[in-house]
Amino acid sequence: MQFKTIIEPFKIKSVEPIRVTTEDERKQYLEAAHYNVFQLDSDDVLIDLLTDSGTSAMSNAQWSAIMSGDESYAGARSWKRLEAEIRDLTNYPYILPTHQGRAAEHILYGFLGGKDRVFISNTHFDTTRANIEVTGATAIDIPIPEAKDLSLEHPFKGNMDVIRLRSLIQEYKAENIAAVILTVTNNSGGGQPVSMGNARAVSSMCKKHGILFILDACRIAENAYFIHHRENTYSHRSYREIAQEMFSLADGCIMSAKKDGLVNIGGFLALDDGGLAQACTNRLIITEGFPTYGGLAGRDMEALAVGLREVFDPDYLHYRIRSTAYLGEHLRAKGVPIVYPVGGHAVYIDAKAFYPHIPVDKYPGQALVCELYITGGIRCVETGSVMFGKYDKDGQLVPAPKELVRLAIPRRVYTQSHMDYVIEVFDELIRTRQDAIGLRITYEPRFLRHFTAQFERLH
Ligand code: F0G
Repeated sequence: MQFKTIIEPFKIKSVEPIRVTTEDERKQYLEAAHYNVFQLDSDDVLIDLLTDSGTSAMSNAQWSAIMSGDESYAGARSWKRLEAEIRDLTNYPYILPTHQGRAAEHILYGFLGGKDRVFISNTHFDTTRANIEVTGATAIDIPIPEAKDLSLEHPFKGNMDVIRLRSLIQEYKAENIAAVILTVTNNSGGGQPVSMGNARAVSSMCKKHGILFILDACRIAENAYFIHHRENTYSHRSYREIAQEMFSLADGCIMSAKKDGLVNIGGFLALDDGGLAQACTNRLIITEGFPTYGGLAGRDMEALAVGLREVFDPDYLHYRIRSTAYLGEHLRAKGVPIVYPVGGHAVYIDAKAFYPHIPVDKYPGQALVCELYITGGIRCVETGSVMFGKYDKDGQLVPAPKELVRLAIPRRVYTQSHMDYVIEVFDELIRTRQDAIGLRITYEPRFLRHFTAQFERLH
């Protein structure tokens, strides 16, 4: 008998209390945070869907492993264990530990970047783009055209547009292209998966032109789940084997282990090329640490070694992907416009369609983020024009292509009743939809403005 309810495939051994707040309190907290939820105290948040990064609950096996951490500066046993685990998974010979994904990005893209250098991706994540652009290089996103239609049913909406890739290689010339980066799953593109067929096509085009092909692999286990269930000929392959095949197509990877590594901190860079790895190791020593710990404690490396194996557990991955879909499907059934099909780690809401009365330069996504916090104590993030908007030479906003709000689900942290609560909060947001108001930015830094920008509500 196949039951409909997908249970969390774990028991809860340790609990962390949530402080319950009132709507009036939350109004005050948000005003004090200048309507930027990154500035809130986490104690003032009921359900924290800001990110799935570094927010996972670790297993008893991971906590046990932490006690065997070897904290030696050089040649630590914990490093050997982690290195062997990453090598088994990726098959790359050169592995560099870092404290998180962007540190690996800074090292690799800092070395490869520079003025007149071009990077091409299905979609660069914001830290990826920032680490590239800060060197003076250009970052170009080429998702498939189907990704533009937020509600179009497509099994692999995270794919890269390979036809565009070919024409960009002709336009910029292969020698000016520093790297092609395939982000799996495509986070900024809606958490959508990338097919093996697409990865293979990108790989062969890069090989043909001698261009470096890097995987941004932070959600590769979740991506493997989609390949197994949606791509012909992969249904008999294990999730781990699928990930291994994908690694084999690229010349290296960057992984923020704070996602599918099931740890609270960690990352790595892994490469095929010894010369490139040497150059990156020199940079690693300057910015992160000695190559046998990077930016990590021995105990962190132990926890990661266990997490990288646990994440491929079929029961875990099934629960993970289906529970994200549970939230998405329920919101969709209520008429909330979401990016469809639902991705792996998050549900993305089309805020422009939810609040059509708020123009893009008054940030409908940020308005929805604020309403969710005030009404339900739910924290999430705008991934629209606050995060990706630019200004033209006259100071006018060049909006992002989409005005999305991301509800990211931490791994193994919330239960189905937490998600039922989120769904119920949306009933109220639908009822009060017309009363939602836009915002104006009163302060912003030059890079990654969404973290520290301040807003004013336009009453
Ligand atoms: N690449 C992707 C696709 C990411 O989603 C992230 C982080 C990074 C790289 C950078 O890794 O945070 O360890 O430095 N994403 C988080 C998020 C922050 O909320 O989606 P990091």
